Amino acid sequence: MEVPASSYTKGSMEAAASPRWAWCGEGIVAFSEARVPIEDRGLQFGESVYEVIAVVGGEPFRLPDHVDRMISGARAVGIDSGVPDLSKWKTIIAQLYRREPHRAAVLYAQLTGGTAPRRHLPPQRHPPFFFAYLCQYAFPVPAEIARGIAAVTVPDNRWQHRDIKTTMLLPAVLAKKAAASAGAEEAIFVGQDGYVNEGASSTVFAVRDRVVMTPPVTQRVLPGVSTKAVHALCEQLGIQTAYCPLTLSDLHHLDELFIASTTSLLMPVVRIDGNPIGSGTPGSVTLQLAYHFQRHFWGQAGP
Ligand SMILES: Cc1ncc(COP(=O)(O)O)c(C=O)c1O
Repeated sequence: MEVPASSYTKGSMEAAASPRWAWCGEGIVAFSEARVPIEDRGLQFGESVYEVIAVVGGEPFRLPDHVDRMISGARAVGIDSGVPDLSKWKTIIAQLYRREPHRAAVLYAQLTGGTAPRRHLPPQRHPPFFFAYLCQYAFPVPAEIARGIAAVTVPDNRWQHRDIKTTMLLPAVLAKKAAASAGAEEAIFVGQDGYVNEGASSTVFAVRDRVVMTPPVTQRVLPGVSTKAVHALCEQLGIQTAYCPLTLSDLHHLDELFIASTTSLLMPVVRIDGNPIGSGTPGSVTLQLAYHFQRHFWGQAGP
């Protein structure tokens, strides 16, 4: 498998050079000139949805799935008139990539409710505001996948509509901090009812008796774009999948555990709350899927 060597810190937008360009409203501007007004409703009320899209060799990974998810989230928030259509997304990505042709990057795209005098229900408002920029990104490489990551569980204290990808991310930020202070890379949200929901920024998959299980897609979790890729691979490889509720105690009695997301791709979880999963190393189903996921992912641009 040919995967670009990582030249900077794993999984980091921050470590890469700052973007130089952004799509802001209706066109490209210098990143340093890109501005959001202080009465932007995304900034003041969290009235805003976003997407993070992998871009490999200029090709967005599963772009239509991301656009569909932004449309349904924006519709739920009442700002869907501002979502660019698919061909506009392609134009925006192509224009940004032409200026900053990173081999591996993520597009951060956000749609806010636009600017209005600060009232919950403003008398009038500007149209929704869309911006996007491309960041160089170091996706996990095979050596990192072979090691896997540790995760901790945290109580899910988010609002009830986790199926909408809004920027109200404070609980996720605090959960990531809790994970980092415990020496782990991901936090897994568990509901008050004891059922596992999802990672702070990933979908959770459990493997038992070679069946790949993930919690059902309801309001409790974000419908992951990577999940579709995982399920498609399972189908190709003849691996059985199931949507099934998982309890906290199930997590401690699994053969294998992994997460999937745009930025972590498919990553084994080898420790949970300090205890090993299975043998404490990535399991065979997970490694098989991770290998094929990487091939599929990098193959998009023909490395
Ligand atoms: C809460 C949450 N769940 C799941 C995911 C995985 O979604 P995707 O596969 O579309 O990246 C993310 C991604 O950021 C997330 O923030």
